[in-house]
Amino acid sequence: MARKKITVVGAGRVGESTAALLAEKEVGDVVVVDVVPNMPQGKTLDLMEARPVYKTDVNIVGSNGYDETKNSDVIVITSGMPRKPGMSREDLLTTNVKIVQSVTDNVAKRSPNAIIIVVANPVDGMTYVSYKVSKFPRERVMGMAGVLDSARFRTFIAMELNVSVEDVSAFVIGVHGDEMVPSVRYTNVAGIPVSELIPKEKLDAIVARTRKAGGEIVNLLGFSAYYAPAASAVQMVEAILKDKKKILPAITLCNGEFGLKDVFMGVPVKLGEKGIEKIFEIKMSDEEAAALKKSAEAVNRQKNEIDGLKLL
Ligand code: LAC
Repeated sequence: MARKKITVVGAGRVGESTAALLAEKEVGDVVVVDVVPNMPQGKTLDLMEARPVYKTDVNIVGSNGYDETKNSDVIVITSGMPRKPGMSREDLLTTNVKIVQSVTDNVAKRSPNAIIIVVANPVDGMTYVSYKVSKFPRERVMGMAGVLDSARFRTFIAMELNVSVEDVSAFVIGVHGDEMVPSVRYTNVAGIPVSELIPKEKLDAIVARTRKAGGEIVNLLGFSAYYAPAASAVQMVEAILKDKKKILPAITLCNGEFGLKDVFMGVPVKLGEKGIEKIFEIKMSDEEAAALKKSAEAVNRQKNEIDGLKLL
């Protein structure tokens, strides 16, 4: 049986951590592409040499070009300018549109049947760019944000209650930005509604911290988070390649769902071998619906700016 093939574009912190996790978990062969001479080659050779200790037999190749990426099953796009303190994800827009446009063009023509997972920021807009350029159906172009934002939300809840993170089930939908929508009503701890365990005031503070959690790390490090983003991208890759039919929040093209038309935004989906196999149109309270509408407005601002560049 041929092994699955995953391309990771961008060998920065998120890209290298993604490649390392894929290798360690033996998800498939990995190709890492980056423009910096020798860098992807060096990082992947280092990973190849970790395999006897990992006890995994996947192949990991680094390249400055795209020919090695041919016939990939999944492509994770992490390349782009990262955030520095004081910058919003939107500040990266113009530079990263050009990068994601060129990367998508290069990978899509070599792997016409692949599933693309976009991680580059601002990720809702970049997923739109990749969808437009690849011309793939919407099931096969998605963005990673909700798994990460939900992991952060779950972390803060588990920390507050001093319980296992595994027991906290929660999801965050909407834009990957300050207007994201952590859904308190759908959050539970081993089946117990979170509102029965944490007082409202505390929950509000956790929601607020979740919304700014990416920025909290940028402020501490001077650059963007990478362990949790990489782990989140890898969970999506595994759900697809192992056809797990996992229900996760992911950025997808909403075309009528949630009353949204032509909007790329995080919503709960089922992830399996075909990519996005279903969108779950969960019921929303008036407050949640209003928050999601604000999210959609934030995404539309990105989209209008991208369209205004007239590059696509
Ligand atoms: C963050 C970046 C990856 O949220 O957007 O940390």
